[in-house]
Parts: sequence; structure tokens; C-alpha cells
Amino acid sequence: MSGFDLRQEGAVAVITGGASGIGRGVAEVFGAAGYRLVLADIDASAGRQTADELASLGCEVELIPCDVADASQVAAMIQTAARRWQRIDFLFNNAGVVGRQTSIDHLEQEDLDRILAVDLKSVFYTCKQAVPLMRQSGGGSILNMASITADTGSAYYTAYSAAKAGVIALTRSLARQVGRFNIRINCLSPGSIGGTGLMQEYYVDHPEKQTQDRLSLVKKIPLGRAGKPRDVAHLALFLASPLAAHIHGAIVTIDGGESLGAQ
Ligand SMILES: NC(=O)c1ccc[n+]([C@@H]2O[C@H](COP(=O)([O-])OP(=O)(O)OC[C@H]3O[C@@H](n4cnc5c(N)ncnc54)[C@H](O)[C@@H]3O)[C@@H](O)[C@H]2O)c1
Repeated sequence: MSGFDLRQEGAVAVITGGASGIGRGVAEVFGAAGYRLVLADIDASAGRQTADELASLGCEVELIPCDVADASQVAAMIQTAARRWQRIDFLFNNAGVVGRQTSIDHLEQEDLDRILAVDLKSVFYTCKQAVPLMRQSGGGSILNMASITADTGSAYYTAYSAAKAGVIALTRSLARQVGRFNIRINCLSPGSIGGTGLMQEYYVDHPEKQTQDRLSLVKKIPLGRAGKPRDVAHLALFLASPLAAHIHGAIVTIDGGESLGAQ
């Protein structure tokens, strides 16, 4: 039944933050589904390792070291990707940082600027470069990365939650603008996804809290576990595929029921 096939042989996927965590999980699944991959990540050594491992599994993969918070590096990255593969079919705006956990009075200007640049402004930069290329080649698909904290709020990660809410608004606005060019744009809103750098960052300073937090997190999630990068990757693969041809401007929650709140 080829009509139900999620494979996209030779399609080109650009994945920001593709070196680790969810981005790496998406790269693995898309590579296995026949996509040619561009990993754009600020961490060149983790990116090299991931790219080499994917290549050893038979994936066609290009690593482009890039700070997505820098508009000129993003422009160069997208141009390099387009030169390498002549097209971009799928763009996953996944790179993100959560920043330090802090009350508003201790939020440093530098941290605020960095979080907004990496988590929100970067999505403007990549879309500004990729939309004209997708338009020229007849269409494409863009997937942005938000978080359930964009809706629920997060007491001590205010800049992160606000940036992710901005990503949701940007997704909806661009959906109105680019749908006529056969470019679909959607947004993921995950709950807690385990085994990623983002989730570990906080525990570097608070290792004693990890076990207790994990137990209370599991209690909050009706499905009884945190998500895995692979859970997110399977949803991304569906949203990138022709099976999702009429899904556009959607914010898709993937959280095992976490955002339903306490019972
Ligand atoms: N893990 C979760 O629970 C969770 C929940 C909701 C949303 N998210 C979002 O998922 C995305 C991926 O996070 P993750 O959990 O996999 O974390 P992660 O830290 O494992 O992965 C993030 C990747 O982005 C890269 N990166 C960071 N800053 C960058 C920059 N300026 N330029 C290019 N690359 C950069 C990192 O090097 C890393 O490879 C983020 O946008 C995050 O906000 C994560």
C-alpha cells in the first residue's frame, strides 16, 4: 500500500540541533525512512559523532556547524545545504536552550537575550532563508519546536516559555502566509521528553533532586512515563509525509497527557 508509505526516498531534511536529544532521534528515524540529512548544530563535535554514526548505518548525512542565533550563520548553513542537495524538502526548527532556572528579578539580560535568540529569533532566520527555496522547488514542509510550557507557563523558566509561545504565534502567522506556495508549517508541543541534554542541564547543579523529580513527574503523566526522542520523531515523520497533506498551522501536543494537569 504505497499510499500509506512514510518513506521519502532522497527527500532532504534540515534538522537544527540535530546532534543530540530529540533532533538526533528525528535524524535517526528520518535517515531510516530514506531522507538525506543536514544536521545543523552549534556543538560540532557531538554533531560529527552523530553524523558519523548515521553514515555508518547507510544514511546520507551532512554536518554543518551553525549557531542558529546568528542570522548570517543560518543564511550560510541553508545556502550550503541547498548547494549540497539542490533542494530542501523538510526543515525542523528544533535547536533550543532552556536557560537557568531563575526568578524574574535575577534574570540576567545576557541570558534573556540568548534564550530569545536561540529559541525564537532563530526560527525567523531559518524560515526567511528556506521559504524562498521551498517556494522555487514547488513546496515543502516546516516543523517548529515549542513546548507545553508555552501554554501552561513555567514559574522559573519565563524566557523559555515566552519564546516557545512566540514560536507558536510565528507558526500560525507563517501558515497564513506560505500555504499558497504549497509549504506546510506546523509546530510540536512536547511535554517532558527524557534522555536529552535539556532535561539534564538542571541536574548538573542539583543532582540530589533527580530521583525525586522523576518520580513526581511520572505521577503527573497519565501514560506513566516521560516521552522519548523516538516518540517525537515518529510524529515528525508523519507530519513531514504526504499522509499529513492537509495538516497546516497546527500545534500538535505530544506529552502522554501531562498537560491535562493534576486529577
Ligand atoms: N526535552 C524536553 O523535555 C523538551 C520538551 C519540550 C520541548 N523541547 C524542545 O526540544 C528541542 C530539543 O531539545 P532537547 O530536549 O533534545 O535538548 P538537547 O539539549 O538534547 O538538544 C538540543 C540541541 O540543540 C543544539 N543547540 C543548542 N543551541 C544551539 C544553537 N544556538 N545553534 C545550534 N544548535 C544549538 C544543542 O547542541 C543540542 O544538540 C528544544 O527546542 C527544546 O526546547 C524539549
